[in-house]
Amino acid sequence: MPDFPYRLAADKLLAWFRPEARPMPWRELKADGTPHSAYSIWISESMLQQTQVATVIPYWKRWMERWPDAAALAQATEQEVMKMWEGLGYYNRARNLLKAAQAIVTRFGGKFPTEHSELLTLPGIGPYTAGAICSIAFNQPRPIVDGNVVRVLCRLLTITFEQIPSELKSRDLLWRISTELVCRAAESDHPRACSYFNQAMMDLGATVCTPQNPSCLLCPLNAMCKARAEGSQSLYPCKKNLPRTVHREDVAVFVRDEQGRVLIERRSGESRNQGFWQMPLAEDTDHKKAVSYFRKKHIRLEEKQLTQLKHAITKFQITVKLYPGQTDAKFKEKKDLRFVTAEELEQLPVTASHSKLLRFLQKKGL
Ligand code: ADE
Repeated sequence: MPDFPYRLAADKLLAWFRPEARPMPWRELKADGTPHSAYSIWISESMLQQTQVATVIPYWKRWMERWPDAAALAQATEQEVMKMWEGLGYYNRARNLLKAAQAIVTRFGGKFPTEHSELLTLPGIGPYTAGAICSIAFNQPRPIVDGNVVRVLCRLLTITFEQIPSELKSRDLLWRISTELVCRAAESDHPRACSYFNQAMMDLGATVCTPQNPSCLLCPLNAMCKARAEGSQSLYPCKKNLPRTVHREDVAVFVRDEQGRVLIERRSGESRNQGFWQMPLAEDTDHKKAVSYFRKKHIRLEEKQLTQLKHAITKFQITVKLYPGQTDAKFKEKKDLRFVTAEELEQLPVTASHSKLLRFLQKKGL
């Protein structure tokens, strides 16, 4: 282990952290003075992966009202869960929540598991989420390493991803450092030391030890930060291996039938956003290729573009171009490709980019 004042760092961070500094409803005490359940922490942590706190809060509140515990969630259908998650992205998170809730009912009698090893057996729960639930909800000395924590630890101890031969090894080192810190925190007399310490690490990364222009003057750990001593904060963590952005164009078609219903299709099988509805879409293509793609589906694509929008998914920067179109005489509706009314559409989970396109069409009266 690198030489570092672990206990002092833990104490300083605990003294710094106040949950009301970044208010999140799952951090507040309930009306009866007790903390929120492990189940609710799990839901919040799943939503917070890849998503900002401000976006998550209303989703979390709606979710907790509808499904207050694992037993309630286990009764939901996948379509209901997807509808509730609509707009948050990375939909496997939602599917896994449902599967895990069902497993909690069948394998744990509906009682939320309290052991790290048990949590790891549930779909969608990896070391980060298991550590977050055990520490935040149960105050167990379990480590957490997410993007914010990586940056904080790399700066504090000047760990880079080249210094150590493989990335895996540096990851492993960060997990060991995080374990050491939370165990030192557990030695303090703070009643919720592990819970507060881990949340403090994440908040420090989100608000003080930021990727650009960190506010070192406000940092409770500035005196022991090795990167700050060298003035090398901007070098950590190493960004060299980040995947570069890939630009892609998709073509979507807007078709109405004589009754004014809109043609939509359901995303299939293994694709991203699987199970979500959208206007028929040709991915990674241009107008010319899309014309022949849609012709095979008996849809004629017109020439004049209606609108376009950009969105980002993982490393893809996607431009969706929307054209009007018509079905030909051979076109037949299927289970996963059909015309729906505006009311029917409201009940279905729709991908975020197509929700925006549909709102645009509605605004234009198209
Ligand atoms: N990001 C993800 N989980 C978090 C938490 N519990 N506190 C602060 N930021 C977070």
